[in-house]
Amino acid sequence: MEEFHKVRRLPPYVFEQVNRLKASARASGADIIDLGMGNPDLPTPQSIVDKLCDVVRDPRTHRYSSSRGIPGLRRAQANYYARRFGVKLDPERQIVATLGSKEGFANMAQAITAPGDVVLCPNPTYPIHAFGFIMSGGVIRSMQVEPDEGFIPALERAIRHSIPKPLALILNYPSNPTAHVATLDFFKDVVAFARKHELILLSDLAYAEIYFDDNPPPSVLQVPGAMDVTVEFTSMSKTFSMPGWRMGFAVGNERLIAALTRVKSYLDYGAFTPIQVAATAALNSDGAEVEEVRSIYHRRRDVLVDAFARAGWQVPAPAATMFAWAPIPEPFRELGSLEFSKLLVEKADVAVSPGIGFGEHGDDFVRIALVENEHRIRQAARNIKRFLASADAKPDNVVALNARR
Ligand SMILES: Cc1ncc(COP(=O)(O)O)c(C=O)c1O
Repeated sequence: MEEFHKVRRLPPYVFEQVNRLKASARASGADIIDLGMGNPDLPTPQSIVDKLCDVVRDPRTHRYSSSRGIPGLRRAQANYYARRFGVKLDPERQIVATLGSKEGFANMAQAITAPGDVVLCPNPTYPIHAFGFIMSGGVIRSMQVEPDEGFIPALERAIRHSIPKPLALILNYPSNPTAHVATLDFFKDVVAFARKHELILLSDLAYAEIYFDDNPPPSVLQVPGAMDVTVEFTSMSKTFSMPGWRMGFAVGNERLIAALTRVKSYLDYGAFTPIQVAATAALNSDGAEVEEVRSIYHRRRDVLVDAFARAGWQVPAPAATMFAWAPIPEPFRELGSLEFSKLLVEKADVAVSPGIGFGEHGDDFVRIALVENEHRIRQAARNIKRFLASADAKPDNVVALNARR
């Protein structure tokens, strides 16, 4: 029987192949150090958990909640944007709470896309950026560019050669998986371009608070006039270690926020009220807990870069996000990222994410997530050192011949 139209457009998750190997290695007793999925391992701060527990005891909170977010939560998000970015938002018309930023992004795609609309999407990138639009009937034009002087010329080419004219451009800085960070000047150029060409900007700012070099990433909405064309998504998952709570936001242009709010009003009743109240308390807190989360990732990053370099693998230090985007060591590059990732599970007991899972232009890299403690990251480096040394000695023993391209 032929696969359903939509399902045919969703390739099997590449990461699943590494996950299956990981599960079978673990079942046979291996101690796999899992630096694969970007699933924060830190517990949610106790004060946020306590707030949830308090609120859940009140049966009035057990009813359907508000799809677009309770007013206090939207006000708290407006205050966060004012404090952090100096951006003024109207909680009534420019903010909607989402069930994690991923849900918000996917439903925004659904709200604004007509069949065949062209969307400019980074490659490599977090999969929902492309597949949110593919599921909505859109067509992706990949942008293999970094946030530098090559970006605007690439946008000009994209506009010139896309029929129909592109609907939207996706921005994701700090980037998952590349960890590239954009400057405000870069955003100014992109906003000017988008306004000129009537291009919607969808900015994924999930890593707004996970940065390391005293250089907080900017919001596109800081650019004067950006509000005319932009919606930005933020997430509580990484900032407050709340990935399982499913809480995020879309903010920005009123027409776009209204479109998302309308679609969501048909689909969901919002997050559970106690979660919304606890999220409000988190956003209104003094920031000490966020500082702690940031410093833990910072230390892990330093340990990773240092220990892997000593193991013979030079990994560039990411300036933000919870990921290192690591070029596959030269002798293994021809294998491609999926086979190399499988090798690391089998021979080094270390799981990473193959770059190909983020798009074809990611295939020379793997993504290493900072989701194990410093001790385990050092252990991963020792395992990799042994693996690289044995590969030097007997490459054909280490790399299965049938896996060679
Ligand atoms: C760039 C990016 N956007 C969105 C998300 C999803 O976040 P949320 O948990 O808010 O849905 C992630 C999660 O890894 C991410 O890396």
